[in-house]
Amino acid sequence: MRVLLIGGGGREHALGWKLAQSSLLETLISCQGNPGLAELGDVVLDVDPTDPEAIVELCAERNIDLVVVGPEAPLAAGIADALMDAETPVFGPTRSGARLESSKSFAKEVMAGAGVPTAASATFSDRESAVLHLKDSPGPYVVKADGLAAGKGVLVTDSIKDAIGWVNDCLGGKFGEAGSSVLIEDYLDGPELSIFYICADREAIPLQPARDYKRLFDGDKGPNTGGMGSFSPVENLDADLVDWTTLNVVLPTLAELASRDVDYTGFLYVGLILTNDGPRVLEFNCRLGDPETEVLMPLITSDLLVVLHAAATVGIGDHSVTWSDQAAVDVVLAAPGYPESPETGLAISGLEPFSDALVFHSGTRETDDGLVTAGGRVLNVVGLGRSVGEARERSYDAARRIDFAGKQFRSDIAADTAGGVG
Ligand code: GLY
Repeated sequence: MRVLLIGGGGREHALGWKLAQSSLLETLISCQGNPGLAELGDVVLDVDPTDPEAIVELCAERNIDLVVVGPEAPLAAGIADALMDAETPVFGPTRSGARLESSKSFAKEVMAGAGVPTAASATFSDRESAVLHLKDSPGPYVVKADGLAAGKGVLVTDSIKDAIGWVNDCLGGKFGEAGSSVLIEDYLDGPELSIFYICADREAIPLQPARDYKRLFDGDKGPNTGGMGSFSPVENLDADLVDWTTLNVVLPTLAELASRDVDYTGFLYVGLILTNDGPRVLEFNCRLGDPETEVLMPLITSDLLVVLHAAATVGIGDHSVTWSDQAAVDVVLAAPGYPESPETGLAISGLEPFSDALVFHSGTRETDDGLVTAGGRVLNVVGLGRSVGEARERSYDAARRIDFAGKQFRSDIAADTAGGVG
């Protein structure tokens, strides 16, 4: 099978690494790819993954049998719709399904229709009403740009002044069209958890839960980032939490989407918060999480491509995903200046094959002088072990051997595996 993988971050490198082990795979091509994916197959750089026509043409030129989409932007741009029109199998939702991520107010409407437990929220496109609502709220304040803002559109704060400032920023154009309306949500407290599903035809297979770390510094301090690390499995969860999520969140959501004529095929990301009153959905995304994918892919023992291909063509049927009893911990190495203005072009050294750790590329570039930094999150160092503790040691051991000027990483990834910061 000839597979086109869309995207070029750590999530896609991990996904490509897993797909490359499939008995079905003949060729893996990635667009836009990265130096890690280049070791697994051709990388196409001159095609815009958010251009549906161009992706359809690329598939025709390269005889692609299945397209697997990593990031949200190509899905929100409608590449799955165009591929379906061209009868090229694709694993990734249509533009209307991707609205679960590209419109937070749409996601809330679907959750309300499906009876999914989530934070109460209100949507505003005029400043005065939003400010009045904030002034009536007890705080802490949660203000979100409604649309896709590359993970940067959310502010959680104790300060009403900052919350009003964020409303002004969003409605004033800081995030372009994505901020033309804002959601103000009730604040929820508790550890967070990510559960991803492979969905097709109102059926869904859960992946093992994972936890990520969004803040830049130890102790969950500093600015929000795309994610500084992750681990899986997560200990001390209720034994029935995944089944509960399938029955109370995912299946009703797929049914609600179907009632709106949206057939959802693709990954569904359920961001949960485990409050004292029970689990609540914080967010849906139409893709896998990054950096959670980097710890999940090495733990899957079954052939993932077989399942994704079935989901995209005939349905999930009897397929399943099986798991190793190992643990994985990902420590992200980030460039100096991340997340505001990461420094690029810094030489990377010490990147050798490790016996008990994998390295997935996020923001790297190959030059005549070797590998250099090319983005904020540079490398994901994934340690594997019999326990989270052992995987953690192995991850940090490898993370310390890789070097570039100004390398930043958190030292507390998976230190508190029972909950705490997320
Ligand atoms: N891990 C957070 C995200 O992928 O959005």
